[in-house]
Amino acid sequence: MRLRVRSAALVLLGALWGAQLALAMEAISTSIAVGMAAALTGFLASYQNVFYYFHECCRNEWISFNKTGLQVDLERKLFGQHIASRVVVKALTGFMNNKNPKKPLVLSLHGWTGTGKNFVSQLMANNIFRRGMESGFVHQFVATAHFPHASQINTYKAQLQEWVRGNVSICGRSMFIFDEMDKMHPGLIDSIKPFLDYYDNLDGVSYRQATFVFLSNAGGESITRVVLDFWKAGRDREEIQLKDLERAMSLEVFNNKNSGFWHTSLIDKNLIDFFVPFLPLEYRHVRMCALAEMEAQKMNLDEDMANEVAKDMIYSPKEERVFSVKGCKTIASKLEYYR
Ligand SMILES: Nc1ncnc2c1ncn2[C@@H]1O[C@H](COP(=O)(O)OP(=O)(O)OP(=O)(O)O)[C@@H](O)[C@H]1O
Ligand SMILES: [Mg+2]
Repeated sequence: MRLRVRSAALVLLGALWGAQLALAMEAISTSIAVGMAAALTGFLASYQNVFYYFHECCRNEWISFNKTGLQVDLERKLFGQHIASRVVVKALTGFMNNKNPKKPLVLSLHGWTGTGKNFVSQLMANNIFRRGMESGFVHQFVATAHFPHASQINTYKAQLQEWVRGNVSICGRSMFIFDEMDKMHPGLIDSIKPFLDYYDNLDGVSYRQATFVFLSNAGGESITRVVLDFWKAGRDREEIQLKDLERAMSLEVFNNKNSGFWHTSLIDKNLIDFFVPFLPLEYRHVRMCALAEMEAQKMNLDEDMANEVAKDMIYSPKEERVFSVKGCKTIASKLEYYR
């Protein structure tokens, strides 16, 4: 055993040296360090007794899905997204309560900017992992930041696969969030495809308990068109159902040639379990966001100020001016200005 620990320490030193070297290189080397860290943690994970910390995700103290917590958070903190709230609760509850899922959970969140996609992924993480987004078992990738150079695609592919494999072998319930999915290279999306499928295991690692969350603006225009039609017909926004959006949304996602999403077989292979649409936000929602932000900043709640902030946002389309162009984004910084 002592020998094993010593060799583990040697590999640890080697990997740390490698990681340091990588840090000295240019920006892309962050991903290299990430790959090395994955190899390192994957290696350490095999020393169950010595490095049992790495296995703790599988113990209840790290992961405890709180359905009520998620419902309450979505009800109180997320405005104007009745469909997304419902789909997310249903998807996570079914998946987290299932001890033997047949495939990993794959959620694809779509919608206009500033409508709450990152916010919801944060609420999901908060109600699964004790440390929420800070948890070592939640991994977020942003296409333009982590995979910026098309010429490096092969390196990114290898690193990403190694990162996912390494982390899932440490913690089966790991969560991976891919932001700006519509800006992600098709080859890169293809490289994670095997992880999303119905395999029992791949090279000894089972991905069936992991969660993959994709965020993108793709489909946003179709969603807005449907919501605007309801608005024009004088119908309640809450009457909109998932099926009213699903077809239009998937058509837009499929047919948009500028992004990588549909070049891949994610959709035609049915690897995405739930499409989660985010509706464009209206004046009343922006107002609520302003009040929520005041509360978060421990300011006195000021209805007049909330109205001012909401009034100063830009609304579209040109004639109707119903939807906030930036959703609830920039509200936090705007409050500074009105203070
Ligand atoms: N529906 C909402 N209800 C409550 N707050 C919201 C909502 N949408 C956005 N916000 C607030 O605005 C901030 C920015 O939203 P978020 O980052 O989730 O937008 P996004 O949908 O990911 O946009 P983008 O497509 O530009 O990435 C959130 O942190 C949250 O404070
Ligand atoms: Mg976002």
